[in-house]
Amino acid sequence: MAKKKVLVTGGAGFIGGNFVQYMVKKYPQYDIYNLDLLTYAGDLMKHKEIESEENYHFVKADITDRETIIPLFENEKFDCVVHFAAESHVDRSITDPEIFVKTNVLGTQVLLDSAKQIGVSKFLHVSTDEVYGELDFDPNTFFTEDTPLQPNSPYSASKASSDLLVRAYHETFGLPINITRCSNNYGPFHFPEKLIPLTISRVLKDQKIPVYGDGKNIRDWLHVLDHCAAIDLVLHEGENGEVYNVGGHNECTNLEVVQTIISALGKSEELIEFVTDRLGHDKRYAIDPSKLEQLGWKPTYTFETGIAQTIQWYLDNKEWWEQIISGEYKNYFETQYTL
Ligand code: NAD
Ligand code: DAU
Repeated sequence: MAKKKVLVTGGAGFIGGNFVQYMVKKYPQYDIYNLDLLTYAGDLMKHKEIESEENYHFVKADITDRETIIPLFENEKFDCVVHFAAESHVDRSITDPEIFVKTNVLGTQVLLDSAKQIGVSKFLHVSTDEVYGELDFDPNTFFTEDTPLQPNSPYSASKASSDLLVRAYHETFGLPINITRCSNNYGPFHFPEKLIPLTISRVLKDQKIPVYGDGKNIRDWLHVLDHCAAIDLVLHEGENGEVYNVGGHNECTNLEVVQTIISALGKSEELIEFVTDRLGHDKRYAIDPSKLEQLGWKPTYTFETGIAQTIQWYLDNKEWWEQIISGEYKNYFETQYTL
């Protein structure tokens, strides 16, 4: 019998990269296709361990390029699609929103058309809790799947737009879809423009840590491998057409996150520098994951175990992140920060 073909878009990035490795190892009976444009956020160094596996395949392509994507689907006849590819950094969406609309909205629509044309058995769209907007600091309020979409940044607005397109292809054309909306991820291969890897890599070099505003904004952190397991479960067991929130009840202020890392690395809090706040900075995100828990998911990492594992990973894998911060990232950092 032919192997099941799973197309993973954005599999050279942070979460998609972890997911590709998880799937290649867990499902030798599937062929995993990693489709990625290799933008500044994607690299193949992370896949050294799996690149020679028989069930791993890489395709360099742009999801917005209809002339390439439609024939690729027609030739390969993918059984299902797990769609991660996106522009993912909120700060970049504030300085340059256009690429977010192109990649996140148009790119998703090209994939939906391609998936509809060949009739995939599942299109799983990986989205974010940021589409719900922000919560206030009342610890008893959470995002549920019924929370109205009220995105506040160009990034989250582009993700919400793509969610609505995915929903529409289900309602109009009967495309079998799921949407997952996850909270903030952290773990191996997290690109050092994001808070946790930025803090770890800078603390290790005794450099200042830029904390936006008063540092009291709250994020709900989930280890990337718990996110991968959630996507695996939804891919196989998710009810057609349904949205699933993903989160592990690990709320922390940004300042707490930075202090935890500084303390774990035995450095001084004098490294913290409060800087101008992000425009439209969402106060708090917090996920109610009970619908996914009913499907059989529960996280395996607490923030304490996950952050310790992640810090150790950055200590053991300096080569990977040092290569990244020496490239395009350097210019980005100098434009974004005045530290
Ligand atoms: P990332 O920025 O690390 O990776 C994105 C990947 O997409 C990169 O490999 C990049 O090369 C690729 N890509 C970008 N434009 C492309 C294009 N036009 N064609 C093909 N590939 C392209 O992102 P991430 O943090 O791994 O996030 C992955 C997905 O998960 C995104 O859709 C994001 O919205 C969502 N998400 C992220 C988080 C988080 O905390 N990072 C949380 C919830 C949801
Ligand atoms: O909630 C899910 C989202 O989490 C994903 O959809 C996004 O793709 C992902 O990037 C992440 O978005 P955030 O904006 O929450 O992540 P970031 O790491 O950029 O910032 C986390 C918090 O830390 C946020 O409140 C802003 C703050 N921050 C961030 C940076 C980069 C700082 O204080 N200083 C910084 O230098």
